[in-house]
Order: sequence, then structure tokens, then C-alpha cells
Amino acid sequence: MIFNGSPRKKGNTVTLVAEFTRALREAGTEFEVINLNQLNINPCQFCNWCVNNNALSCVQKDDMNDIYPKLLDAERIVLATPIFWFNVSAQLKLFIDRLYALHGDKGYAFTKKKFANILVYGDTNPDSSGVNNAIGSLNDMIKYMNSEIIGTVHARYETWSNLPEAV
Ligand SMILES: Cc1cc2nc3c(=O)[nH]c(=O)nc-3n(C[C@H](O)[C@H](O)[C@H](O)COP(=O)(O)O)c2cc1C
Repeated sequence: MIFNGSPRKKGNTVTLVAEFTRALREAGTEFEVINLNQLNINPCQFCNWCVNNNALSCVQKDDMNDIYPKLLDAERIVLATPIFWFNVSAQLKLFIDRLYALHGDKGYAFTKKKFANILVYGDTNPDSSGVNNAIGSLNDMIKYMNSEIIGTVHARYETWSNLPEAV
């Protein structure tokens, strides 16, 4: 499962995701890309319905309900995001907050899922881009979910004047 947190259909995040999926296709690996920006995902309300009911889903009826079973089934999960204001995009953060619903009565529902992260930014210097904040957040979050990161790639788009058009 690949979750794309960029709003741009022809942006740099998508370019890297497309390169990744090309390799997956060549390897004969089954995958699905979910463009978070196109979904209706509400913020977590911290009502605790999910935990109190051991639901592994959310009381809010939105597009996350289709995603929870897919996440539980997925062998590997890729999170792709541009850096927006020194961290992951809001699209990805909304999705991350809703992962709270996968707390079961025996702890977090994942056991040793494998994650990979794809991040892009505009700053010429990765150290001031905020990418390290995003990588730190994703590390903490993935560790909390009893899971591990098997790879992280981050890159800067080279030519600002040549940025693809937003959609
Ligand atoms: C709202 C907004 C905030 C941004 N914040 C940062 C930032 O904090 N650090 C950075 O290096 N680039 C920042 N950028 C630049 C984007 O990370 C960069 O252009 C990236 O390639 C966008 O991804 P996309 O091509 O998939 O849309 C920001 C762009 C936008 C629109």
C-alpha cells in the first residue's frame, strides 16, 4: 500500500512514487496507490469509540473506513509526502492521526509491518528543509505501531522554474 500525501498530480512526490511503482511492477509485486488528497478524511475527534469498542475502525463514516482493512492486510506500507512547513503534508497528517483507530484491546493492531518513506522538499539544504523533522515524526510513529522502517528516500526538486503545474 502506497499513500501519497501530495496534492499535486504531477508533482515531485508523484514522480518518485511512479519510479517506485515502476520497480514494483517490474518485480511483479502487487500494489495499490492511494492519493490521500482525493479522499474525504476527517480529523480524529479523540472520542475513543475505536478503543472502547476494540473496533479497529472509526465511528466517523468517511474514506478511512475502506482503508483500515487494507492497512491490516498490507505487508508493506509506503508513506510519500512533500515537506510542507517543515514536516509532513496536512493530507498525510490527517491520515496518520486516524491510525489511532487501530488500537485494539491488546495494544496496537500491527505486528511488525514494514514501512518505507518517500519525502521531497524545495530547500537546497536538507538540514533547513524540515525533512529531518518529518523523518523523526515518521520514525517515532512507526516504532509506536510495533513496526519498522526498511527504507527512506528524500530528494529535492532541482529546477524551481520547471515545476509541473498544480492541478
Ligand atoms: C505550503 C507549502 C509549504 C512548503 N514548505 C516547505 C518547507 O518547509 N521546506 C521545504 O524545503 N520545502 C517546502 N515546500 C516546497 C515543497 O516541499 C516542494 O516544492 C515539493 O517538491 C512539493 O511536492 P510536490 O511536487 O509533490 O507537490 C513547501 C511548499 C508548499 C506549497
